[in-house]
Amino acid sequence: MLLIKGSNEVKKAISFLKNSRKTIGFVPTMGALHNGHISLIKQSKAETDITLCSIFINPLQFNNEIDLNTYPIKIENDIEMLINEGVDLLFLPDKSEIYPENYKPIDFSFDGLDLIYEGKLRPGHFMGVANVLKIFFEIIEPNYAYFGQKDYQQTLIVRKLIELLKIPIDIKVCEIVREETGLAMSSRNVRLNETNRSNSGFLFKILNELKEDLNNISVEEAIELAKSKVALNAEASCEYLDVLNRDNLEKWEEGYIKNQSIILSAVKYGNVRLLDNILI
Ligand code: PAF
Repeated sequence: MLLIKGSNEVKKAISFLKNSRKTIGFVPTMGALHNGHISLIKQSKAETDITLCSIFINPLQFNNEIDLNTYPIKIENDIEMLINEGVDLLFLPDKSEIYPENYKPIDFSFDGLDLIYEGKLRPGHFMGVANVLKIFFEIIEPNYAYFGQKDYQQTLIVRKLIELLKIPIDIKVCEIVREETGLAMSSRNVRLNETNRSNSGFLFKILNELKEDLNNISVEEAIELAKSKVALNAEASCEYLDVLNRDNLEKWEEGYIKNQSIILSAVKYGNVRLLDNILI
């Protein structure tokens, strides 16, 4: 695996590969890799000639200083995992490589999609994600870019970004990978204490039960029932739990076709935010 820190070196390598008609799959990450990331890498390896992975903890997308300062860093372990997976290129830039001094973030317009759910709870988060991805996309010019369904709202924002930038990148959304308990894999799961980690499957179970309940009771009743089940867990508090149109995250209304919906949730468990969703 080639490890590159400079964007000009990445551009040179990519231009050489593109001249040789190689397709490029891009897996952006913030490191602390787990099997969720590995599934994106495996899909890219299966679908493209060259897989490039980036590791960059993007300060612009953190609305909370403590979250940024405690974000897990495991760079040596990450590099070993990427080598084992046969990743071709690792882009590992410093902050100054991505954001030159006086960098002015672009204020994209996502028609309000960046201001609801995760965007409402983490003001500025999606602007930070969009800015860093624009920079990465311009350096790497991938044919495909791989994202996990766990961060479902992010995948919609990325699709809108691609439309706004008018760049021909095919966005691939890969299924959620889960721990044995059912907990959706996330780099932040290491912050759960042992007891909470082993009990953390409750959210996935509740979402599945909600999906079943939609066949028998009204959407509003099913959502309230699911929220009351979350509340039975001493350390859990529901931030949002909704049944939404999966294309735009508008509220589910009578008349929507159920199989175009998504159950979207965020639950604070101890000091960790768990994000999860199920497509209906
Ligand atoms: O999903 C993430 O890990 C980040 O939001 C991403 C896409 C790497 C951008 O920093």
